Amino acid sequence: MAATEPSPLLELEVGAIATGGGCVAHVPDGRVAFVRHCLPGERVLARITSLGASFVRADALEILHSSEDRVSPPCPHAGPGHCGGCDFQHVSVAGQRRLKAALVAEQLRRIARVDHEVTVEPVAGDHEGLGWRTRVRVGLDAEGRPGFRRHRSHELELVSGCPIAHPGVLATGALGRTWEGLDELEVVATDGGDALIAASGPKRADPALPEGATGFVVNGQVRQPPGAVHVTVDGYRFRVSAGVFWQVHAGAAAALAGAVRDALGARAGDHVIDLYAGAGLFSVLAADVVGRSGSVLAVERNARACTDARHNARHAPHVQVRRSSVTPTLVSQGLGEPDLVVLDPSREGAGRAVSAALAGLRPAPRRIVYVACDPSSFSRDLRVLLDAGWALESLRAFDIFPMTEHIELVAALVPAD
Ligand SMILES: C[S@@+](CC[C@H](N)C(=O)[O-])C[C@H]1O[C@@H](n2cnc3c(N)ncnc32)[C@H](O)[C@@H]1O
Repeated sequence: MAATEPSPLLELEVGAIATGGGCVAHVPDGRVAFVRHCLPGERVLARITSLGASFVRADALEILHSSEDRVSPPCPHAGPGHCGGCDFQHVSVAGQRRLKAALVAEQLRRIARVDHEVTVEPVAGDHEGLGWRTRVRVGLDAEGRPGFRRHRSHELELVSGCPIAHPGVLATGALGRTWEGLDELEVVATDGGDALIAASGPKRADPALPEGATGFVVNGQVRQPPGAVHVTVDGYRFRVSAGVFWQVHAGAAAALAGAVRDALGARAGDHVIDLYAGAGLFSVLAADVVGRSGSVLAVERNARACTDARHNARHAPHVQVRRSSVTPTLVSQGLGEPDLVVLDPSREGAGRAVSAALAGLRPAPRRIVYVACDPSSFSRDLRVLLDAGWALESLRAFDIFPMTEHIELVAALVPAD
């Protein structure tokens, strides 16, 4: 076969779902294949897209026997060779949740050595898995046309819309025009009607401004106000500046805040630590429960997020925001004697050393609540806590990334004795 020829189509029986948005199959030479665009139990014609030493990657191009969970993708850019953003456009929303539950349970079993039945809960704020994404990041081609990266590629799939985007994102018109001289955009919108475009590009970039009341920030400089959006959760109004983390799904902040509140079980007078605090979502809501006889310490390393967190907690003098990295030393020596700890690290998790430091806090907090967007790094950190004598009290999984394989977990741990 010449190097430029595509590989021949292989008929494959598809097995269980795997991380990376594909399912496991075996190619005739016995190697494992991770096959995208298919479902467990399907028989497909697939083409290999890349070869590894012990496994291959492939795309299902034709479905010979289809799963009951298969649907027609709502997005015209979904499918082999196209947009790499969504893994599960071809799966019913109920089927997606079952796949994600199986993925989480498998990682808990394999990495944390914990058997736990997982149910994935829907959250309010999407419509059959669409219209939820309040932050959309697009690349721009040489002519400034927006597009999403194709799977495992730097190539752009040019788009003029996106069915998982929140209507407010589409209403900015950002995906329907060109942005000459820029490299990338993040378009942000809220249920309250705020919208903001944060762009990056060469230092001297001087693009045309967006129309209407949409804020425009280029390389961190506000070119057209506002430079922040506002989101209301549980009656509290949060300011989130360009570049500061906020939950992407329109209903995620409220759903996670409720789950964290229930899992923490805070009481008046408690001392609560909020690690990886972002713009202070969990801190502000915990401050409400513990009252002024208690205290909340928010730890966050991003300066702009700390400024937003201070602003968002300005009514609550018992909230202290500390700009710092979360390190094992900070945890073991810099947190005082917390009654409760919530942590919500980025995808890579807290890591073994920070997890061990949390597990070793004396006196032990009543509860540690771990919010995680990556089941595998969470499972690794969970194992550290379990080995140090903590017990998993509860675990909830939320479908805040419909159409993708991603999922959010909220776990509560208590000292075992
Ligand atoms: C997943 S976000 C959570 C934010 C917040 N809990 C929320 O729900 O809006 C993680 C946050 O941790 C911050 N972060 C990442 N690594 C960090 C570290 N090592 N130390 C402190 N903060 C960190 C990021 O800047 C980001 O704001």
